[in-house]
Amino acid sequence: MAIRYNQRTHRCGELRATHIGEAVRLAGWVYSSRDHGGLIFVDLRDHTGLVQLRFNPAQVAQAHEAAKTLHNEDVIAIEGTVVSRGEQINPKLPTGEIEIEVSAIELLSRADPLPFQVNDEFDTSEEMLLRYRFLHLRRPEMQEVFRLRHRIARAIREYFHENGFVEVETPFLTKSTPEGARDYLVPSRVKPGAFYALPQSPQIFKQLFMIAGFDRYAQIVRCFRDEDLRADRQPEFTQLDMEMAFVQREDVMATVEGCVKRIFKDGLDVDVATPFPLMRAQEAMERFGIDRPDTRYGMELRDVTGLARETDFRGFREAIDEGGVVKCLVAKGGRTLTRKVLDGLTEEVRGIGAAGLPYVKVTRGDTGLELATGIAKYIQSLCAALCERIGAEPDDAVFFSAGRFADVCKYLNYVRTRLAAMLDVIPKGRWDLLWVVDFPLVEWDEEQQRWGSTHHPFTAPLDEDIPLLDSDPGKVRAKAYDLVLNGVEMAGGSIRIHQRDIQQKVFSLLGIGPEEAHDKFEFLLEGLRYGAPPHGGIAFGFDRWAMMLTGAESLREVIAFPKTQRAVCPLTNAPGPVSPVQLDELFLTLKPPSSG
Ligand code: AMO
Repeated sequence: MAIRYNQRTHRCGELRATHIGEAVRLAGWVYSSRDHGGLIFVDLRDHTGLVQLRFNPAQVAQAHEAAKTLHNEDVIAIEGTVVSRGEQINPKLPTGEIEIEVSAIELLSRADPLPFQVNDEFDTSEEMLLRYRFLHLRRPEMQEVFRLRHRIARAIREYFHENGFVEVETPFLTKSTPEGARDYLVPSRVKPGAFYALPQSPQIFKQLFMIAGFDRYAQIVRCFRDEDLRADRQPEFTQLDMEMAFVQREDVMATVEGCVKRIFKDGLDVDVATPFPLMRAQEAMERFGIDRPDTRYGMELRDVTGLARETDFRGFREAIDEGGVVKCLVAKGGRTLTRKVLDGLTEEVRGIGAAGLPYVKVTRGDTGLELATGIAKYIQSLCAALCERIGAEPDDAVFFSAGRFADVCKYLNYVRTRLAAMLDVIPKGRWDLLWVVDFPLVEWDEEQQRWGSTHHPFTAPLDEDIPLLDSDPGKVRAKAYDLVLNGVEMAGGSIRIHQRDIQQKVFSLLGIGPEEAHDKFEFLLEGLRYGAPPHGGIAFGFDRWAMMLTGAESLREVIAFPKTQRAVCPLTNAPGPVSPVQLDELFLTLKPPSSG
């Protein structure tokens, strides 16, 4: 029978004991059904949740007959009365005190047998979940993820609106915007042989907004980067991008802190304390081996180069002779780590380039502390001094790395992160927000034998370091800041260069000659010429906020239609081939992949 599904009286998840006795009209999907020999129970689902329907043959035989034929995920509309479940309360459901005695039902759309069930999570490959993403998204927990994502977006928009920011769109079909990744290119039909690049970020445009006098700009915007994908990287992702004129670093940070406070409040009803602590990038590297440290737990790196000089252990000696360092970290209670686990960890560290993973365990001997296993026999003589220096006690394990500072940092950061998970030392429910500042402006690129930007080429150097641009570029610090949450880089920004001559100087330091600068960035250089205010800003990895706040392990869980690690969309099968006609229109001929 026809039911006015466009006039639903309620949504499924809203109904409570206070509605008992009311006539209702609902619509949704069949989540599950159970035939109890006579009575049929159906869980009906919409975006607000589940409600139980009861079909009683003694009441309305026609509805009961129809209910018999229902499949999971059929779309139905029903009319009925809210009744109490009496003793049969389901405490797990918000609607668990009531059910609907159905008087009429209409089947609106039939569902074929499903590739996987919406109502259970067993053994479905991620490929399958992505291929039928619209089914996966029906799951209540996925709906909750995207509603939280929406709350974060709304909190951000409201916050920036209240603080005088304007939202203006920037182009997607544009020129290369350097953020360190490869560009996605779009061929032009009307200009044969020419390509647009999809923006890696709106960086230059937002600077032009400041030059144009907007004062404060914020945009929730898609960015595109063709780079190696990881759990926290997608080829297209969303940024909250913002820029402010007439500001210093502290002003941008205070604005961001207000926004983050709002995100936590509106997203999770959590109050975070401001201001966030600040750490210099160099200190972060020394203490944690990484410039985005997870400060929820200790296990900090300790420099023991001085002590290590006193041993004949070859691994240490050689590193020190070549100008390297020896560092270590103490894993409290690391005695419990078995040989198998340690061998596995050693293999993993080898996998990222280390020669090995020297370690010792600390024990209590007859005469005091002793070192055991691993490289103990080579460094036993250091035992007392080492343990005192690094605060190691019986039952601890100590892991070493010797070599170039950057390599040592990389390996020990890896070890620290893995051990934290293995030894379960990460406190639950903690949100450690941290600003990392004073990054070097440029880093030496061994492969290309030239300086490269640590952030991007538009970042301003600290005023007092400007003279070093000529004499010692590696020592120049940037007016840049990253926001780190539990070890994940959530946002990055800087005060920008607003003087044309300094911008040109930085371009030339980066090996971008006048001609290339003209080709790629003339529009910015022109902008800097006609009255550019001092300005700065930041961009949040919006998907990363959604990932962290929902506790997801990967960005794929919080992006509605994400790409796989191979940058493919299993739902649409993008990227896909195009027709010869399309190629012709674009003046393109394809090389077979093998010849590339
Ligand atoms: P940056 O390159 O640091 O800065 O990017 C800002 C933030 O965006 C997030 N992010 C990503 N998220 C998902 N997938 C990716 N592939 C990806 N790449 C980056 C990170 C990062 O902190 N224009 C500058 C910002 C500025 O200077 O104002 C920029 O884009 O969370």
